[in-house]
Amino acid sequence: MSDTQTVVTIDGPAGAGKSSVARQLAARLGYEFLDTGAMYRCVALAGLRGEVDWSDERDVAELATAHRIQLDGERVWLDDNDVTHEIRATRVTRVVHLAADQPAVRAHLVQLQREAAAGRAIVTEGRDQGTVVFPDADCKIFLTATAEERARRRVEDLKRRGETPTYQDVFNEQNERDRRDETREVGRLVKADDAIQVLTDGMPRTDVVDALERIVLRRLSQE
Ligand code: DC
Repeated sequence: MSDTQTVVTIDGPAGAGKSSVARQLAARLGYEFLDTGAMYRCVALAGLRGEVDWSDERDVAELATAHRIQLDGERVWLDDNDVTHEIRATRVTRVVHLAADQPAVRAHLVQLQREAAAGRAIVTEGRDQGTVVFPDADCKIFLTATAEERARRRVEDLKRRGETPTYQDVFNEQNERDRRDETREVGRLVKADDAIQVLTDGMPRTDVVDALERIVLRRLSQE
C-alpha cells in the first residue's frame, strides 16, 4: 500500500474460521492482527449493558463514540473491562447486527481500523476490509466454507464455550446472519473483485494457514 504499510485483508461469512486463521497467519508473517468483528461486538455489548433502545439511531450511533474500544493482542477491552470472552456470547451475537447495520457506527469503526493499520504491517479480518476499509490492500483473501460446514464448526465452538446449541438452531441463525451481512446497506459482505477466494471445507486449520501464507508471499513478491 505504501512503503511503511502492508495490509492483508481476510473477508468472508460468519463461521468460515477467519479469526483463528487470520491470527495464525499474522503470527507467521510477523504482522499485527486486527479482528474487526470484535469491534462491532464491543458496540453491541455496550448497547446491551446500557439497555439502549436499538430503534433509536442516534443512541446506537453514540455507543461507538462514547465507549473506548481497544484490541490488545488476544485481549479486547471495552472501557476498563476485559470483554474478550463476553463479546463471543450468544446474546451478543444475536444483537450485533443492530450495531453493524448502523452507518454512523460503521463510519467510526472504519476510522479506528484505518488508524490501527497506519504505518504497520497487519492482517485484518471482517466483512468489508478489502472492499470498503482497505480497497488498496496489498493482498485480499475471501475465506469461505459451505453453510453446513460453517454451522458444524460453530456448534463445536459453542460447546467448547459451555453452551448447548442444536445444529438446526445454529444453522438457521447463521443463514439469517448471512442474509443480513450480504444485504446491509453499508459495508455489505461481498468478495472484492481482486480478492482470492479460498474454500476451506474439509481443510484442517493449519492447511488453511499454509495456503494463505503461500498466497500472501506470492502476491507480495509480485509487488
Ligand atoms: O466476525 P464476527 O462474527 O465477530 O462479526 C460480528 C458482527 O459484526 C457480524 O454481524 C458481522 C459484523 N461485521 C461487520 O459488519 N463488518 C466487519 N468488518 C466485521 C464484522
